[in-house]
Amino acid sequence: MHNFIFHNPTKIIFGRGTVPAIGTETAAFGSRALLVYGQNSIKKNGIHNQVTTALTEAGVSIVEHGGVCSNPLLSHVRAGIAKVREHELQVIVAVGGGSVIDTAKAIAAGSPAACDVWDFFIGKSAIKAALPVTTVLTLAAAGSEMNGGMVITNDVTKEKFAASGPLLYPKASVLAPELTFTVPPTYTAYGAADAIAHVLEFYMTTEDDDVPVQMEFMEGLIRNAMQSCERCLADPCDYGGRAALMWTATLALNGLTGAGLGRTSFPMHMIEHSLSALYNVPHGAGLAAVVPAWLRWRLPQAAVRIAGLGQRVFGLAEPQAEETVQRLRNWLSNVGCPVTLAELNIPEADIPRIAANALNLARIWRLDSYSQADIEAVLSFCR
Ligand code: NZQ
Ligand code: ZN
Repeated sequence: MHNFIFHNPTKIIFGRGTVPAIGTETAAFGSRALLVYGQNSIKKNGIHNQVTTALTEAGVSIVEHGGVCSNPLLSHVRAGIAKVREHELQVIVAVGGGSVIDTAKAIAAGSPAACDVWDFFIGKSAIKAALPVTTVLTLAAAGSEMNGGMVITNDVTKEKFAASGPLLYPKASVLAPELTFTVPPTYTAYGAADAIAHVLEFYMTTEDDDVPVQMEFMEGLIRNAMQSCERCLADPCDYGGRAALMWTATLALNGLTGAGLGRTSFPMHMIEHSLSALYNVPHGAGLAAVVPAWLRWRLPQAAVRIAGLGQRVFGLAEPQAEETVQRLRNWLSNVGCPVTLAELNIPEADIPRIAANALNLARIWRLDSYSQADIEAVLSFCR
């Protein structure tokens, strides 16, 4: 087990009926807020009304910035920064899933900056200041509600890159599971796939073999992501299932799983971000294809670890690495995720183009051991 410092400053308010808390939690940081949200789900399901009522009652005035799309765009972030500067806003409230929260974080970091916000994503500038962000989570998936990361797509260069920093952690996040009752089966499954992928990035890339606490914690998160996803697909209004899936997804990427593992990396995300950047594939859907493919590509070097996962998560009697990968792929497919490029409507002939796009991110993420041929080999398993 490696030395580590675990410090997560985000205050979590979890449970049924907690939405009104966003008012006072936001008012603590300012009285003029930018409200960031997606296309129209929160208008349709009444969450917009709940949140604006809570903010108004807490004395917070609102400038709206709706229209965040899945795989959020740099141009929309820049428009939000312009609004913050024009209205001299003090706090950013995100109401949505990972795309909305990441947009809010990018606006929060870009608004006080002298440089262009994209500089943070290409390693040209460090984030030295950020407006406070509060969130109301409406989709269990990305984990952005409790971490310092953000992922934005440059509409012009078609690059989907990430940036992170301690200033980007939301000050407070409201996690009310009942808000996810309206999440469609597709995004319920994609969210579980994303949470499982977050865990597996740490689980599969740590070189430390003496981390039993973390490994069993991660195996438990994978089991719960699967079990709670199945509950939510069986009954979208199963509060216990939605609560378990929501908390699992948050824990899967809030720093706890990686604590003590030493150096880890995110190769599956490095590849998936290209699928989303080039084809606007939902993030979790892209991962459902990439994760089993990457595991099959890594089998020769990682058979023991994969087989152990199969015994402790899938209950296999014997260590069987190949069977473990197949079980995960079958589970993802059975809950409605695409597991091939064809199911993602991506032509196999595009594999070299996808790999070249991913290679750019590999270099920024210092995944220097990955070559174009390696990434093409992984993608060739997405058949
Ligand atoms: O836009 P609206 O109308 O709100 O609809 C959204 C969107 O279409 C819908 N939705 C959200 N809450 C709903 C709902 N529909 C009905 N009822 C609700 N309660 O769901 C769709 C997808 O939303 P989105 O925010 O795009 O999904 P997700 O939460 O999976 O976020 C994906 C983004 O997170 C990034 C990904 O790259 C991707 O851009 N990630 C962020 C990370 C981070 N900051 O730590 C890490 C992750 O690995 C990931 O990369
Ligand atoms: Zn992810």
